[in-house]
Amino acid sequence: MKATAIAPANIAFIKYWGKADEELRLPLNTSISMNLSGAHTTTTVEFSDELKADDIRLVDGQFSETEKKRISKHLGRIRDRAKIRTFAKVVTQNSFPKSTGIASSASGFAALTVAGCASAVIALSEKELTVLARLGSGSACRSIPDGFVQWDAAGQSDDSYAHSLYAAEYWDIRDILVIVATEEKKVGSSGGMEGVHTSPHFAARLAVIPQRIRRLADALVKKDFTALGTVIEEDCLDMHRVMQTQSPPLNYWTEATKRIMEAVVGWRSMGLPVYYTIDAGPNVHLICETKDEERVVKSVKAMKGIKEVIVNRPAEGTHLVEEHLF
Ligand code: PMV
Repeated sequence: MKATAIAPANIAFIKYWGKADEELRLPLNTSISMNLSGAHTTTTVEFSDELKADDIRLVDGQFSETEKKRISKHLGRIRDRAKIRTFAKVVTQNSFPKSTGIASSASGFAALTVAGCASAVIALSEKELTVLARLGSGSACRSIPDGFVQWDAAGQSDDSYAHSLYAAEYWDIRDILVIVATEEKKVGSSGGMEGVHTSPHFAARLAVIPQRIRRLADALVKKDFTALGTVIEEDCLDMHRVMQTQSPPLNYWTEATKRIMEAVVGWRSMGLPVYYTIDAGPNVHLICETKDEERVVKSVKAMKGIKEVIVNRPAEGTHLVEEHLF
């Protein structure tokens, strides 16, 4: 059976950086994210007796051999669950060109998991789907539930799953994604976080996260934008401090990244409430309220070194659709 899923990318408000178990991708801390409406992956999967190997393709681009192996490994997990041995054809398309440097592993593995399970005709609950997606790429589990999502750290695989805190409609805020670099990053997040324990700041980060999660949850309940933005920016800086003090150090910021970070602080002091957050790359997410979207977009577009600006709203989670890619 052919099945197609669309999955949103997500931006972490409280970041995941560090694994308790490499193979199971169990995180060392709980994280919270928001699904993004402007960046998603569509994937069609069909398991078929005709195939002699998995046939994996990317529309408008090419997967490397390493990426294909990682996708095949994930198809193997779905085959194990379904107790089948057939190979699959997989065609996948990103709404954003691969070269924009936006991480596609979260939306990619979420779409692959949901389309793959539907194609193999295994009925999993949302919770089980998030656990399975997590094995492909940690942050992918957060792209499956709706809107604002929490992924719990836990010692057992089945307990480390993602669940929706609020639906996408709950709070209509904006994530203005500013693309400053389009090259693929040299060190990906999977490999990058292996060195996390070498940072002298990592233990302090882990200790403070439960309190930060409570502050974020409280800001969401109250829809307190200043409190939300403050904790988001704080956690971003904290994660990057850990990355930059790991051995070997990881520095994902470029000059353009730093210029935007500084500009945001300046705009805020002039009365524009906007906050930044940055993942394992140089691109910057500007978080603001709907009423300030135009001002923020205009301000950032006036800066030099900006390649593209994508305006995101909170989005629903991964879902099956009827139109297939082949
Ligand atoms: O699961 P990965 O490999 O996509 O790791 C994601 C790591 C960060 O993007 C830096 C933080 C996060 O929580 O999304």
